[in-house]
Amino acid sequence: MGIRHPGLEALVAVRILVTGNMGYIGPVVVEHLRAVRADAHLAGLDTGFFAHCLTGTSQLPERRLDCQWFGDVRHAPSGSLEGVDSVVHLAGVSNDPIGTTYEDATFDVNHRATIELARTAKDAGARTFVFASSCSVYGLAEEGLRTEESETAPLTAYAKSKLLAEEGLADLADDSFAVTSLRFATACGMSDRLRLDLVLNDFVAGAHAIREITLLSDGTPWRPLIHVRDMARAIDWAIDRAAGHGGAFLALNTGSDGWNYQIRQLAEEVARVVPGVEVSVREDAAPDARSYKVGFGRFRELAPEHQPQVSLAEAIEDISAGLERMGFSDPGFRSSALVRLRVLNDLRGSGLVTDELEWAGAAETVRG
Ligand SMILES: NC(=O)c1ccc[n+]([C@@H]2O[C@H](COP(=O)([O-])OP(=O)(O)OC[C@H]3O[C@@H](n4cnc5c(N)ncnc54)[C@H](O)[C@@H]3O)[C@@H](O)[C@H]2O)c1
Repeated sequence: MGIRHPGLEALVAVRILVTGNMGYIGPVVVEHLRAVRADAHLAGLDTGFFAHCLTGTSQLPERRLDCQWFGDVRHAPSGSLEGVDSVVHLAGVSNDPIGTTYEDATFDVNHRATIELARTAKDAGARTFVFASSCSVYGLAEEGLRTEESETAPLTAYAKSKLLAEEGLADLADDSFAVTSLRFATACGMSDRLRLDLVLNDFVAGAHAIREITLLSDGTPWRPLIHVRDMARAIDWAIDRAAGHGGAFLALNTGSDGWNYQIRQLAEEVARVVPGVEVSVREDAAPDARSYKVGFGRFRELAPEHQPQVSLAEAIEDISAGLERMGFSDPGFRSSALVRLRVLNDLRGSGLVTDELEWAGAAETVRG
């Protein structure tokens, strides 16, 4: 059970389940939660699709947990939600290219399973649910900053699935079950399971591997970014958020106004921080349909103690240091195992994973 502090609305969760903990963001979130909640019971739940994609670490990140469940959120192992105070729901199809290739699975996992998981968590007595949503729900939105009041215009299966999940979660939220949907900016930074299919990570990888940053679009689109450690700080805040502080359901842009960048600016900053690097635009580059500037005022107002702290230069240095630890030098990194779609396609190609993104052969749930 969580601890209620007399006179305070907030519940301090002591049993927390983090789904999707074995991906890119998960290990950073778990490390942060372990550091700031030494006595909490932390459990993870993941299919383990990217369990083998460790980067620059000599220790399994899951060692920080009290319990690891191997299972699918579409049929969460019954014991996994028992006695849980809060669920941090990261599990899911995590970008547009995967969403396009595995569209049915994207809606199934990101939308339907999210709502079912939240319903089960609520029935089991959980008090809070934190959902990893995305600023991509705003789609093409170049005019002004998008706030939570702005119209959404999701362009892809991925973005649509996140928005549908938010709508279902809003119906479940009430005074005793606070749901926070963190509409995250695009992540960047080092992790024990680094992804290079994210714009800043990709640029820093290019700078290291080939001393060149190739822009896939014309460089004009706007994109808000956030460092993974700052995502973890926001999640830590949302875990204890009570319904009285922002509403039973809260969709919240999560990032900082100063981290709205044009893609070209990001490339130029990487070239400034990593010496001897050229920036080039691919000849067949098309304008990117995904462009949005986002306002994060509400997040500043509600969570003043949990605001992003990492600077862009620090983020670039962090990724650079991580790549150096890995001995990274692969010029073909854009089709390597550091790209999530590639890993899933390989697993499917070898018959280990189905088109529905499930382990073939009815994998058993295992608790570790
Ligand atoms: N990385 C970003 O820029 C970003 C931005 C906004 C939101 N998000 C969201 O944050 C979450 C985590 O992102 P990430 O970058 O760590 O992605 P990731 O792909 O690295 O990790 C996702 C994890 O979910 C697991 N998973 C997938 N389907 C599952 C299922 N059916 N059951 C159980 N586990 C399953 C995978 O095995 C993986 O460990 C995702 O929901 C993503 O949409 C990410």
